[in-house]
Amino acid sequence: MTAIRSVVLGCGSYLPQKVLTNAELAARIDTSDDWIVQRTGIRQRHVAADDEFTSHLGLNAARAALADAGVDAQSIDLIVVATSTPDNTFPATAVAIQNGLNIHHGAAFDLQAVCSGFIFALATADNFLRSGACKRALVIGAETFSRILDWEDRTTCVLFGDGAGAVVLEAQEQPGTTSDRGILTTHLRSDGRHKSKLYVDGGPGSTRTVGHLRMEGREVFKHAVGMITDVIIDAFKATGTSAEDIDWFIPHQANKRIIDASAHKLHIAPQKVVLTVDMHGNTSAASIPLALCVAVRDGRVKKGDLLMLEAMGGGFTWGSALVRW
Ligand code: UT7
Repeated sequence: MTAIRSVVLGCGSYLPQKVLTNAELAARIDTSDDWIVQRTGIRQRHVAADDEFTSHLGLNAARAALADAGVDAQSIDLIVVATSTPDNTFPATAVAIQNGLNIHHGAAFDLQAVCSGFIFALATADNFLRSGACKRALVIGAETFSRILDWEDRTTCVLFGDGAGAVVLEAQEQPGTTSDRGILTTHLRSDGRHKSKLYVDGGPGSTRTVGHLRMEGREVFKHAVGMITDVIIDAFKATGTSAEDIDWFIPHQANKRIIDASAHKLHIAPQKVVLTVDMHGNTSAASIPLALCVAVRDGRVKKGDLLMLEAMGGGFTWGSALVRW
């Protein structure tokens, strides 16, 4: 029996020009390159210029993805932007990107699931495409976390960075097997009991301010590996696949120790893990498409490869997506 699959036609990314190294941070606050590298694997992060907003980052990534896919922006009828750092409270950053692309039809909206945002956005677009409601979608993860960091708080400000990544998806009829190209399965989870462990201490409806990111890092760490592995096992069960079938593991890039521990627990070989946390830091919803683009551009990810994407973050939210490239 055939199936409609959301096939990835192309991907693109954008990083702001300014690079902030660990050494530069150590000159400002009580931290060290050694501590940051050993505890997180991060060596540097990119920081947006004052006049560069999340929509600008997302628009650049979207343009790169459309060029890579070789499709006209006018053929896009759905734009989903995963972000926790929108340009404004409203309208959605997605409509700014839609307008920047000169698209004036279809639907564009933001989705907020913090670091899991890209997986949630991918799953949302996949459902629109498989239902027949839309034909071609842009899924974008774009963030300017530098704007919501407390730069005096060494426990958080060393961890995050800015950037954006995007993919173009198209609904295509496929044979309906796990050899199909496209998104094979997605699994999303949330548990609001953990909402105070990673949050922003402001907002339009509470403090009328933007606020700053606050995190109980050790608590997040404690839950991360279990949650990540649970949704990956769900994806394996749903498709009858296993760790051995995976060509590339492309996780959310928060902490190298979390990524290594998750891969180890799942018996995914270290050489199959795509790591960009050293170069980008944690870019929240942008981290997976940024890592994906690096691995596509350097030739690691090839047509037909099986990719396991996963993320866990504020909420808590967590999710996985199994994709055949
Ligand atoms: O993307 C969303 C999901 N987020 C995550 O996945 C983040 C999860 N958490 C983590 O990645 C880690 O918990 C951190 C990297 C945030 C922290 O690493 P840790 O090994 O859990 O360190 P810790 O919080 O237990 O802190 C150890 C020590 C503390 O000092 P004491 O109490 O032992 O004296 C901290 O005050 O390290 C100290 N510390 C620092 N030292 C130098 C905390 N931040 C820094 C810093 N530089 N930047």
